[in-house]
Amino acid sequence: MAQDRDKLDWIESELQDSYDEEWELELDDERIPEALRPFKDRIRAKGIDRHTYFRELLRLQAELVKLQDWVVEKKLKVVVLFEGRDSAGKGGAIKRITQRINPRVCRVVALPAPSDREKTQWYFQRYTPHLPAGGEIVLFDRSWYNRSGVERVMGFATPDQVEQFFQDVPEFERMLARSGVILIKYWFSITDEEQQFRFLMRIHDPIKQWKLSPMDLQSRVRWEDYTKAKEEMLARTNIPEAPWYIVEGNDKKRARLNVIDHLLTRIPYGEVPHEEVVLPERVHNPDYERRVL
Ligand code: ADP
Ligand code: AMP
Ligand code: MLT
Repeated sequence: MAQDRDKLDWIESELQDSYDEEWELELDDERIPEALRPFKDRIRAKGIDRHTYFRELLRLQAELVKLQDWVVEKKLKVVVLFEGRDSAGKGGAIKRITQRINPRVCRVVALPAPSDREKTQWYFQRYTPHLPAGGEIVLFDRSWYNRSGVERVMGFATPDQVEQFFQDVPEFERMLARSGVILIKYWFSITDEEQQFRFLMRIHDPIKQWKLSPMDLQSRVRWEDYTKAKEEMLARTNIPEAPWYIVEGNDKKRARLNVIDHLLTRIPYGEVPHEEVVLPERVHNPDYERRVL
């Protein structure tokens, strides 16, 4: 009896531990400095309640595990692009997608600024090595669309290069689709006010300040330029083989649930039958038993 109780206590603490991991991620989102509280209350509608959020998130993450098994079983090749303004919530959504699945099946690609060597190459060259083989999912945290966004607005690409990109990208994506890649493109949308608020949060928070790059500060200054760039990008690259999906990003939690739910609908998956897993008996090794750690 006492042994059973011990076992239950242990299971409970293990479960608690797994939920704590979620809390860690969530509390991090809610570390709102005192100075910014009035600002937050003014601009934010009441978000989704925590209980509902966690329940849905865990349900969706369990579905992602099934999707993962399906992708492996059917040797699917999946590419998901996460685009949007700085602080729109791309990174947070990606973290929840990968949280409970195998990093060998699903990996994240977040490329730094191109090197001098890369700048001389075919524009898509530095992205293609990261494309999936059969049985893999690749999540791009920003992607080739940098050319029509940050590179255009900040002048890292010439107008000719941007125009060439617009000519090339539908062809490039159609080639991917023809080769069997499932390509899904998300644009995370936030309002001007919300971005202002998120940047202020970062300025006031020592563990978030590193996230504010000079590039981010420019994205406040050039909000309108980014708006124009986004509009042209959506208009010229929304092809039937790879349409854009807009994620309303002002409410981070809702955005994460929505994007996972939507992703699950884009790839029809079934359950892969598993043999029942039985834990084998441990082999006793007396030398090992004696070792005290
Ligand atoms: P983060 O992705 O963390 O927001 P930054 O805000 O520093 O990173 O940069 C935003 C994007 O701009 C990144 O995708 C980065 O690769 C790109 N970028 C930064 N500097 C350059 C540059 N000189 N040329 C081309 N792209 C750049
Ligand atoms: P974005 O899609 O991030 O480029 O947003 C550009 C503009 O679209 C913002 O300044 C808003 O005016 C509007 N917008 C984007 N998302 C929302 C939203 N969730 N609710 C209302 N307006 C929005
Ligand atoms: C996001 O939240 O959209 C990403 O983390 C990018 C950023 O840090 O600005």
